[in-house]
Amino acid sequence: MKKKNLVVIGTQWGDEGKGKIVDLLTEYASVVVRFQGGHNAGHTVIVGDKQTVLHLLPSGILHDQVLCVIGNGVVLSPDALLKEIDEVEAQGVSIGDRLKISSACQLILPYHVALDQAREGAKGDAKIGTTGRGIGPAYEDKVARRGVRLGELLNLDTVAERLREVMDYHNFVLQGYFHQPVLDYQQVLDGLAQRAPVLLSMMADVPSLLQQKMKDGASILFEGAQGSLLDIDHGTYPFVTSSNTAAGAAAIGTGIGPGDLGHILGITKAYTTRVGSGPFPTELFDEIGEHLGRVGAEFGATTGRARRCGWFDAVAMRRVCDLNGVDGLCITKLDVLDGLDSIKIAVAYKGCEELGGAVVGSDQYSQVEPVYEEMPGWHGNTSGVTDYDLLPANARAYIERLSEILGAPVDMISTGPERTETIILKKPFTD
Ligand code: GDP
Ligand code: IMO
Ligand code: MG
Repeated sequence: MKKKNLVVIGTQWGDEGKGKIVDLLTEYASVVVRFQGGHNAGHTVIVGDKQTVLHLLPSGILHDQVLCVIGNGVVLSPDALLKEIDEVEAQGVSIGDRLKISSACQLILPYHVALDQAREGAKGDAKIGTTGRGIGPAYEDKVARRGVRLGELLNLDTVAERLREVMDYHNFVLQGYFHQPVLDYQQVLDGLAQRAPVLLSMMADVPSLLQQKMKDGASILFEGAQGSLLDIDHGTYPFVTSSNTAAGAAAIGTGIGPGDLGHILGITKAYTTRVGSGPFPTELFDEIGEHLGRVGAEFGATTGRARRCGWFDAVAMRRVCDLNGVDGLCITKLDVLDGLDSIKIAVAYKGCEELGGAVVGSDQYSQVEPVYEEMPGWHGNTSGVTDYDLLPANARAYIERLSEILGAPVDMISTGPERTETIILKKPFTD
C-alpha cells in the first residue's frame, strides 16, 4: 500500500471536529503540521475521560512517537505557545524535542493583541467578533513587511532596533486613533529576550525537514485551523479570519510543493455552526437550533462563546469542495441529529440561482434565502456507533444524500467526541 500525505481542513466556519480527527489519524502518520492560523484555533481531543484543547500545538501531540511541526504560515504567540506546552506537559504528555517551529513564523506580540481588541471595541455592533488574540494585526504586519519572525531572535540587537520603530507606529495608532493606553517598549523587548532561548531551541528549517521526511517515506498530516468559509479570500469577507484556510495553504504555509499534499479530507459537521458575526443563511432561531446547540455542546473551545447553529448548507459546501479539491469527506457530530423528526439540507438559494455557489462570500450572501430539501430523521441511536451498517436506515440515507449532492465520497463519520467513536469507511494514507 502506497503511503501518502493527507490534509485535514474545516469546510464550514470552523469547529467541525478537526482536532478529534487529526488526533485519530495521527496513528497513521509520522509528522503532523499546522500551516496557518494561530491560537485563535481551539481543537478538542478526547481520549477516554481526558479532554485536551489544543490551540497552537498540532493535534497529533498526544501520540508519543509523532513529530509535530508549526509551519511558516502560522502566527505564533510566544506566550500562548509556552503556556500551552506547560499545560499539555502537566497532563503527562512529553513534548521534549518533538516540536519544531519554522524560523519564518511571524510572532504575535502584545501590541497585536491590544490592536485587535481596540479595533473590535471601536466597531461596536459592527465588530467581526474576533477571538481577540491578535491574529489579524500580526498577519497585517507580515504583509506590511514589518513583522518579527522567529528566526530573527538569533540577533536580538536587530530585533530591538526594529521593535522600537514598529512599536512607535502601533503605539501612535493605539493612542491617537483608538484612545487606548500604549504598550511599554522595554517590557515587550524584555519579554521577547527572556523567551528567545527556549523558542530558538525549537526552531527548524521546516521545508528541509519535511523534504527529508518525505524522502524517508514518512506520511505527513497537515492540520488546518478555522474553516473554508473563514478564508481571507474565499470566505464571507470581511467576517473572516486573516489567513488562507483552504487546503492550498498547506503547501505555502509549510514550504512544500502543492503536488506533495496528497489526499484532501474535508471535515464537515452534519449541520452548521458559526461563532462570531457574519452571514449564515441556514441559521436557526427556533427550538431545533436550541437542540443543536445543547446536544452538540456548541460553545467555543477558545473563547467559550455560544456558537450559532443551523441546517447543513450544501450550496456553500459544494463551493467549498471545489475550492479545496476535496477528495473525501468526514461528517462529524451525526449523533447530535438523533431524535429529530425531520432534517433539512439547503440545496439552493432563492433569488440568486444564476450565481449558484459563486454567491458564497459575495456581497449578496447576507441576503440569500435557502431552499430546503427535507428528509425524515431517525429515532434510533447513532451515538458511539463504529459500524456503518449499524446506523439507523434514515441516518445512512442522510449521509448518502449529502455525498450525492456534494459529489464527494464520505471517508469517515464521527458519532461522538471520543477518539474511538468513529466510522472509518476509507483507510487514510492509502490508495
Ligand atoms: P475543531 O476546532 O474543528 O477541532 O473543533 P472543536 O474542538 O472546536 O469543536 C468540536 C466539538 O465537538 C468538540 O467539543 C469535540 O469534542 C466535539 N465533537 C467532535 N466530534 C464529535 C461528534 O462526532 N459528536 C459529538 N457529539 N461531539 C463531537
Ligand atoms: P478552529 O480552528 C471558529 C472566527 C472568529 C471570528 C473570525 C475572526 O477551532 O475551527 P480571528 O480571531 O481569527 O481574527 O477571528 O474567525 N474564528 C473561528 N471560528 N473556529 C475557529 O478555529 C476560529 N478561529 C477564528 O470567531 O468570527
Ligand atoms: Mg475549534
